[in-house]
Amino acid sequence: MCGIIAQSGADDAVGTLINGLERLEYRGYDSAGIAVQNGSGIAVHKRAGDVSEIREEIQTEAASGEVGIGHTRWSTHGPPTDANAHPHTSDTGNIAVVHNGVIENHAELREFLSANGHEFTSDTDTEVIPHLIEHFRQTESETMAAFRRAIDELEGSYAIAALIRDEERVYAARAGSPLVLGLDSGQYYLASDIPAFVEHTRDVAFLEDGDVVVLESDGAQIFDRNGVPVERDVERVDWNPEEVGKGHFDHYMLKEIHNQPSSIAKTIRGRVDPADGAVAFDDLDTEVLDGVREIHVVACGTSYHAALFGARLLSDAGVRTQVFRASEYAKAAGPVSDETLVVTVTQSGETADTLSALRTAAGRGATTVTVTNVVGSTAAREADQSVFIRAGPEIGVAATKTFTSQVVTLILLSQKIAMELPDATPREDLPELLAALERIPTHLDQVIEESRAADLATWLPEHEAYFFIGRGMSRPVALEGALKFKEITYEHAEGFASGQLKHGPLALVTSDTPVFGLFTGEDVDKTVTNAKEAQTRGADIIGIGPADGPGADESDAYLRVPDTHPVCQNLLANVQLQLVSYHTANQLDRPIDKPRNLAKSVTVQ
Ligand code: F6R
Repeated sequence: MCGIIAQSGADDAVGTLINGLERLEYRGYDSAGIAVQNGSGIAVHKRAGDVSEIREEIQTEAASGEVGIGHTRWSTHGPPTDANAHPHTSDTGNIAVVHNGVIENHAELREFLSANGHEFTSDTDTEVIPHLIEHFRQTESETMAAFRRAIDELEGSYAIAALIRDEERVYAARAGSPLVLGLDSGQYYLASDIPAFVEHTRDVAFLEDGDVVVLESDGAQIFDRNGVPVERDVERVDWNPEEVGKGHFDHYMLKEIHNQPSSIAKTIRGRVDPADGAVAFDDLDTEVLDGVREIHVVACGTSYHAALFGARLLSDAGVRTQVFRASEYAKAAGPVSDETLVVTVTQSGETADTLSALRTAAGRGATTVTVTNVVGSTAAREADQSVFIRAGPEIGVAATKTFTSQVVTLILLSQKIAMELPDATPREDLPELLAALERIPTHLDQVIEESRAADLATWLPEHEAYFFIGRGMSRPVALEGALKFKEITYEHAEGFASGQLKHGPLALVTSDTPVFGLFTGEDVDKTVTNAKEAQTRGADIIGIGPADGPGADESDAYLRVPDTHPVCQNLLANVQLQLVSYHTANQLDRPIDKPRNLAKSVTVQ
C-alpha cells in the first residue's frame, strides 16, 4: 500500500506530484507529502489527511522545484500524524525519502543508527532509510554508493525514491513493491502505478526487483542488483488519460459502475465466437494445461468472489477444482504437484497474500496462471502465464468493473480449459452462454439506466443489519453484495448461502434486518423459499431477478435484471447491488472512493 511518485525534468514538478498523488490515493489516504529541490535545499510539505490538505498548504506557500518526490500513505508503522507522514528526512534535512512497503528489520536499524547519534522524529519504519543514506555518505564519496549501501541493509519490501540536497536527480530502488518508470521528452517519472503520470506519458518501463534508478532531467539510468547498467523494455500502454479522471461523475465508483458496458466489451473482444461456440485467448499458451489434473483458484476479497464463480464453472466442466483464500493457501492447499494448475485472481497483481500463495504454489511444483488487470504487475511477471481482464484503470477503492471483468474472463477461461483438458467437457449450452455474454454490454446499459437502487437507498439506511442470500452461482454475488455494502456504507452486512440461513443466521433476522434475495441463476425457487422464511420473521425482502421471475411478487421491493442466460443474470444482479451500495453510502454521506481503513492494493500480509 501507499503510493509514491517522483519527477525530474524541465517543468515544475509540484503540480505533477500533487495530481499524481491524487490518482494514487486508492493506495492509501491517511497522510500525504511532497519534497522538492527548490534551489536552496529540499523543501518538504507533509501532513495528516488526504492529498487535498497538501494542495491547500502549497497554494498558500507557493512551493516550486523541477525535481521532486511525493507520497500518499496507508499507515502500517505509527498512526496517521503529521510527523509520520512521508517524506522523511535525515538529521541534517539533506536527504528526503518516500517509501512504499515494509522494512522488517527497522527496529535493529533504528537501534544501530540511534547509537551512532541519529535522532528519529517519527514512529515509521521508513525513517531509517534517510538516516542510513546519511550515515553511509560519511564514508562513501559517491552518493550512489551510499544509496546502494543503505538499501543493502534493508530487509522487507520497498519502492523508494530519495532526494539529496544540491543534486538535481532522484535516486530510486525497487524490491517487492511496484515501481514504474514513465518516459516523456525532457520529463521522467517514477510511480507506484501508471495513472499517476498517464496524463503526461503512456510510455512506461516496469522495473524489476533489485533495480536502482537515477532520474535526471535528460534521462533515466537503470542498474540491476549488481550495479550493472540495464535497459528495461519500454511499452506504450493503451490507457487514455480521461480514463483516470472522474469525468462528470461525483465519484470514481459511480463512473466505474457506468463504465462496465464498455469494460466488459473490451474483456470479451476477440475472445468469443458464439456461432461455433469457440473461445480464444491470445494471451494464453495452452501448453500450460498439459498434464493438468487439478486446479486451485486462489484470491482475496472481491477477487475471491470472482474465483468462487470461476471455480464453480470449472467443477461443472468436470475439472477437479478447489478455491482458496490466498492468505490460507500455504496451510490449506493440501497436496500440490506438477499436475496442479494454480490460477491466482488479482486485479492489482500486487496483493501480498496472493503473491505469497503464487510463490508457494510455484515452489511446490505447480504451474501458475494469473488473471489480472495490470500488465507488468508482480503477479503477471511471476506467474508462468497471465490472462488480462482488460477492465482499464480502476481508481475507486471498492472494486466494481474489475470484478465483472474478472467474472467474464473466468467464464471464458473455464470453458477454454474445459475444451483443452482431456477429461473435461465445456457446457452444452456454450453457444447460448457466449451469445448472452455478447449482449451483456447492452443489458448493463439497461440495468444502469432503469435501476431503482437510488430510490431504495432512501429508506434503507439505519437498519440494524443487512443480509444477502444466494444459492449456487448466485452465492458469490450475495457474498460480493454484502462485502461492497459493508465496505462503503459502514453498515453491518453479511452474505450467506441461502440454504444456510436456517442453520444459524436466521436467529439474527428481525424486522430491522432487510434481506437481499438473489433470485437469479439456478434453484431460484429454493432461494425464494429461504427468503420467505426470513420474511415470516419480519424481515423485508429485496428481491433481485428478472421481471415476473419467481420471487418478484413475494418481494417487498424488487430490482429487475434482463431475462437472459442464468449465468449472466448473476452478473447483472451484481451491478444492481453495486448501485444499492453506492446510493446507500451516498445517502449516508460516506467517503465512497476512500472508505476508512482500506486501500485498494493490499501489499502487506
Ligand atoms: C473490495 C476489494 C478488495 C480486493 C482485495 C484483493 O472492493 O477491492 O477486497 O478485491 O483486496 O485485491 P486484488 O484483486 O488486487 O488482489
